[in-house]
Amino acid sequence: MLGGAQWSTAWQVDDGCEQATSLLRTRIDAAPDTVASAPGRVNLIGEHTDYNAGLCLPLVLPHRTYVALRVRDDDIVRLISAQEPDSPWHGELGDVGPGTVDGWAGYAVGVAWALREAGQRVGGFDAAIDSCVPVGAGLSSSAALEAAMALALDGAFGLGLAGSEDGGSALVAACIRAENEIAGAPTGGMDQVAALSSKPGHALLLDFRSGARRDVPFDPAGAGLALIVIDTRARHSLGDGQYGERRAACARAAELLGLASLREVTDLDAALAALPDETSPDGTLRRRVRHVVTETARVEAAVAALDRADFAALGALFDASHASLRDDYQVSCGELDLAVAAAREAGALGARMTGGGFGGSAIALVPAADVGRITTAVGAAFDDGGFRAPMFLDATP
Ligand code: GLA
Repeated sequence: MLGGAQWSTAWQVDDGCEQATSLLRTRIDAAPDTVASAPGRVNLIGEHTDYNAGLCLPLVLPHRTYVALRVRDDDIVRLISAQEPDSPWHGELGDVGPGTVDGWAGYAVGVAWALREAGQRVGGFDAAIDSCVPVGAGLSSSAALEAAMALALDGAFGLGLAGSEDGGSALVAACIRAENEIAGAPTGGMDQVAALSSKPGHALLLDFRSGARRDVPFDPAGAGLALIVIDTRARHSLGDGQYGERRAACARAAELLGLASLREVTDLDAALAALPDETSPDGTLRRRVRHVVTETARVEAAVAALDRADFAALGALFDASHASLRDDYQVSCGELDLAVAAAREAGALGARMTGGGFGGSAIALVPAADVGRITTAVGAAFDDGGFRAPMFLDATP
């Protein structure tokens, strides 16, 4: 507790491993062959750009998901999760495929399915999962689960993938297939790459056109600042159709413009003028395009700002990104807008929603000395607005 606000603190890694291990022991009466973990993430900037071949800049949280796993000598998979105590899952790995697994288990067993599809020798196993990544908060709890499963399977079945660049890419690809094809969420890949490839103390610049990555030093504390996450507790879901609708609109706009993706737009005004009126008389399609193109430009500007440790410029880019997501991409909500406005009013250098939107979390860059005051002010604004008290997380990468 700091300044009266509620904080969600990350577990120590040893404690998280121990919790997953003891869950496996008590519920399945087995000792693990491997215990692995992977983090949740926030995206500093570059939202809804990954599936448009654009740029984004995520960084991982100290909050992680833990998987304790032991190999079986048959093809059966048994899964238990401390977060879903009433919904254990078991089945034959060979029976898993698109449309066969409902709910949280799809993210987990989907990774084993995808690795096997890719020719890896993965068989049956028992796994216990525990996590301090808030679920449904837009902090990528699903990718943390997939990535922790991928690492646990890699270790327990001796696949030898983690540690090499190609092997790491194979793990990322399996996580993305699990999410898209088994869990059925049509997401763009940023979260899985972030969970498996980020370095401490750095954000990760991802270019989804070239596949290039760059570790960008991110040290707000060195400048007397802190990055805080405001989990609005307005629960979001990326499987409810809104995310897929945005993605389809972007694909349609690119097709109408005769481009492989919206990343290929070089002249925004010309592209907006070229989109036929009859395809979206209310201008929706043009707004979607404007967000995507300006957002990738903001990522470039944010990286330049970080390279010169100009956090004031980064804060201004957060603000512009939020306005674009709220007005043009229309993926914000009342709680997110309030969190951002209240943080700024209380002295944040900048704030924005992070992740897919429609609920979930915002981030705010704030003077370290003012964290207590600003979080209290945000909490008071939620109270006045009749919303549930938000939860805060420290986003030190
Ligand atoms: C979710 C998806 C990502 C990305 C973001 C928006 O987190 O999983 O692929 O599209 O939304 O930037």
